[in-house]
Amino acid sequence: MAKLYVDGEVKEGFIHPEIYGQFSEHLGRGIYEGIFVGEDSEIPNTNGMRNDVVKALKEMKVPVLRWPGGCFADEYHWKDGIGPKEKRKRMVNVNWGKVVEDNSFGTHEFFELCRQLECKTYINGNVGSGTVQEMNEWIEYMTFNGESPMANLRKENGHEKPWTVDYFGVGNENWGCGGNMTPQYYGNLYRRYQTFVRDYNSEKPIYRICCGANASDYEWTEEVMKTCAYKAPEHLHCFMDGLSLHYYTLPNNDWNHKGSATQFNQEEYYVTLHKTEKMEELIRKHSNIMSKYASSEEVGLIVDEWGGWYDVEPGTNPGFLYQQNTMRDAIMAAVNFDIFNKYCKVVRMANIAQMVNVLASSVLTEGPEMVLTPTYYAFHMYKHHQGAELVHSKLTENSVIGVKKEEQVTKISQTVSRSEDGILNLTITNTSVDEAEKVDVTFANMTQAKVIEANILSGAMNAYNSFEQKDCVKETAYTGYSIHDNQLIIKLPPCSIVQMRIE
Ligand code: AHR
Repeated sequence: MAKLYVDGEVKEGFIHPEIYGQFSEHLGRGIYEGIFVGEDSEIPNTNGMRNDVVKALKEMKVPVLRWPGGCFADEYHWKDGIGPKEKRKRMVNVNWGKVVEDNSFGTHEFFELCRQLECKTYINGNVGSGTVQEMNEWIEYMTFNGESPMANLRKENGHEKPWTVDYFGVGNENWGCGGNMTPQYYGNLYRRYQTFVRDYNSEKPIYRICCGANASDYEWTEEVMKTCAYKAPEHLHCFMDGLSLHYYTLPNNDWNHKGSATQFNQEEYYVTLHKTEKMEELIRKHSNIMSKYASSEEVGLIVDEWGGWYDVEPGTNPGFLYQQNTMRDAIMAAVNFDIFNKYCKVVRMANIAQMVNVLASSVLTEGPEMVLTPTYYAFHMYKHHQGAELVHSKLTENSVIGVKKEEQVTKISQTVSRSEDGILNLTITNTSVDEAEKVDVTFANMTQAKVIEANILSGAMNAYNSFEQKDCVKETAYTGYSIHDNQLIIKLPPCSIVQMRIE
């Protein structure tokens, strides 16, 4: 039996809601069909956004949405996506299937979507193929409240008041699809481009995100931090507020044979989770390098692409990155959430790739139908950690499990936080595919602990929801616990996540 000691009085950091962020790119059916169907669609919508998808996402609580890419961002010219829809440029989406992009979802539609989701906005600008002027004008168009060419254009296009850009990424993967640059070259470009990301709203400065490394490319972090994490004495801020990191979990590192999203054996299951656990090492090592140049309050780590990446579903367009989502993905999400929470003093935001119909999605759609994936339920069960204080919790007598000795994973993983109203939020995961586990929880400084909410997600490692069987995997009420005074015993079935609220 594993033992968990919790002290709700010992605070270990603030869990930024943005750790549970989302990402939607102009890629496959991620935006078109999945979210945006247009005002004239027969699918019920509000200003073109699917009502079913927006409702589900609101229940899941999306704190921030990153858009328009990804690789798409460095080919995107924002002026193509404003003004009357019939006049918008039809272009080719070169990165993703070479299909026509009709630009019917642009800046105005993005802000409308965020308004409906009630989430913060994270826009990714174009450094790879865009000009400084273009980036500068986009910021002016979105955020300037006075009279100027771009603010006037926004008003002509029907939006009088400026919007709030909470986060702005200066390029995406500029070491790859965003221009194949060296860190030195990008670092200098970053300094120049970010200069023209003006703060028109001095009360709400834009949080500038510099393009960070691909997985374990520590040299990139070192060079870019050296060049860009610079704070001139006369400046209030560093040139950057955040540095990104992208890390995808692939069962096999061969990009042509990554592995199936649904057909895998136990060995592959554990190997995949073992690889996802590498996130902790990446955060630790990148943030150590970053700390040589700036404190974590000055420059936060932004894990703005993460999640499982598998072979596309048979018969689908390889450029659309459409994959199913199983209990393995829910467990993977929980393991990553626990890592992000543990490092909440450095991880300022994380955005799973992606939100709908692409890669590790929470929502899948097919015509008017919608399916919620196991990853959706993982996000839903962790939502109370958003904006809560991480509190001290320590697991002992935990074990490592797996088929291969060198690729094992930790059996039990957990996060305990405290909401503003004093309620403790506990999420605890059993990664084992075939062994249940009892966890004996002791709450320090509590005499009469009371469970006020308890839910569970569990199933076979490769269980998933299809359009024929939408509810194979679903969050349900959890009763497998007992509580006396300050002692809680939780029985975790194999491959399960339990969420509890305790007062
Ligand atoms: O999420 C899919 C792609 O993965 C993104 O466009 C890119 O940034 C990354 O390589």
